[in-house]
Amino acid sequence: MLKNSTTTKTKGASDMNWLNESTRTLAVIGLHFGDEGKGKFVDKLTTDWADIVARGTGGANAGHTICIGDEKHVFHLIPSGILHPGKLNVIGNGVAVDPRVVVEELDILKSKNLATDHLRIAYNAHLVLPSHLVIDRLRESGSGKVGSTLRGVGPTYVDHYRRIGLQVRDLRNKDALWKKLKLNLEEHACFMRSFDREVIRDIMEHEHLLEGAYFRPNDLNVVFDSDAIVEQYLAYGRLLAQHIEDTDALMYQAVKSGQRILLEGAQGTLLSERYGTYPYVTASDCTTTGLAQGVGLSVRDVDQTLGIAKAFYMSRVGGGPFPTEMGGEKSERWCAKEGVTRDVELREYPSVSISKTNPIDSTTTEDFFMGVAIRRHGNEYGATTGRPRRVGWFDLPLLRHAAHVVGRDIALTMLDVLDACPEIKICTGYIYAGPDQWVGNRQLTDGHVISCAVPMADILEHCEPLYKVFPGWMSDITGIRSRKDLPRELLNIVSFIESEARVTTRVLSVGPDREQTIFDE
Ligand code: IMP
Repeated sequence: MLKNSTTTKTKGASDMNWLNESTRTLAVIGLHFGDEGKGKFVDKLTTDWADIVARGTGGANAGHTICIGDEKHVFHLIPSGILHPGKLNVIGNGVAVDPRVVVEELDILKSKNLATDHLRIAYNAHLVLPSHLVIDRLRESGSGKVGSTLRGVGPTYVDHYRRIGLQVRDLRNKDALWKKLKLNLEEHACFMRSFDREVIRDIMEHEHLLEGAYFRPNDLNVVFDSDAIVEQYLAYGRLLAQHIEDTDALMYQAVKSGQRILLEGAQGTLLSERYGTYPYVTASDCTTTGLAQGVGLSVRDVDQTLGIAKAFYMSRVGGGPFPTEMGGEKSERWCAKEGVTRDVELREYPSVSISKTNPIDSTTTEDFFMGVAIRRHGNEYGATTGRPRRVGWFDLPLLRHAAHVVGRDIALTMLDVLDACPEIKICTGYIYAGPDQWVGNRQLTDGHVISCAVPMADILEHCEPLYKVFPGWMSDITGIRSRKDLPRELLNIVSFIESEARVTTRVLSVGPDREQTIFDE
């Protein structure tokens, strides 16, 4: 499906050996449920290789940390390459754009006297409205809860496909904005009226955006103040005017003229609305196909994809099946509990830890506590929401599926997190233990062994993992810079994964810093 890439490697820096010399468009895609550590690769590739960095999926539900001086900022919409003034940063047509968030992120950059004129926003990307934020919360208050980040992304895509969505270009056209907004708000108000007013009031209190300006709480018929929204959105239009462009044409020209394009994936393959654990997914296709389309390119324009996976564990934020989750339902409940953050968890489980000086001991080997320990050591708390991420063992059936969709060149990240783990479990397959179900022309019955995951929630929730247990390496690997110097125990697991999932590990990440990376030699 992807353009054939030659095997000639990029000349020059040995740490770019894995990149084919002919590659002009490269996609960095998560193979799990997001948060795989894509940012580090995007950062390196932006610095050393790319001319253009482009996002094409998701919205402010994603989050990456950008360090400006000593301060850390979590950015949600502006691509990670923004600190490189020489490189164009593109928010493509497939991104759900909340103009308030873009303006806030631009303000942070401007307040630090940093350049912003290299940001381009697709004129045809769809707009998140204040009402989308409320709809997200209302949907999450009912039985269809998926653990959304509540950034209005899902409802924005819904309106896109219902053909009533507003686009970025509408920010510059008062009449069109007014007309389309009116239609949207009428429909949204109609949806909201099916909910109890107390529920809406509650949500309004949570949602700072709706205090005052956009909401008329005492008016039973008009829920949103369309005048206020039009004024505010036109103001955003004026602030963003210089960035709005036909980015589809820009990207087409960039491919034609041989520029180096880095496609920055958001979320991960297992959250893709098409290939993920449906219905517990996000609302865009976060694979190479969706990403290419979301920046106005064809998947044939993508020369190479680097799939990113955590090793040898995984994480998931929000609801949905997670067969290898450490602590199973107990962990899912704990991570979903309102108000649980890193500090709360530290107070609740002060003695659970994993560190080089304090290896996981026997009290920690209960799966749930192992999950807490790994979460703490890997800092697995959401960048966007602060929620604890659910943690589970590395799952080969899910990787086999993801690699099939995305490609077989992968990077393994977070390896140092398990430095003090005496045993490492890899899920090699599942035993199906649910009701008979047809999947295409084959029937799943109780006891069926599954090696490549069928990524549907109502199948995965009945899958019991089979594990192979490996000894851990129990040493600090953060200073190692060459694959041959890595502990034998660790390399055994990497080889096992490569042969079992038919993937090639191009890069190994042994710490958060850029230099803590081992490339193909
Ligand atoms: P939404 O896209 O915010 O509606 O969330 C849908 C699902 O995707 C929820 O389970 C979220 O936790 C998950 N999700 C969305 N964005 C991210 C992300 O950037 N990292 C990890 N999970 C995400």
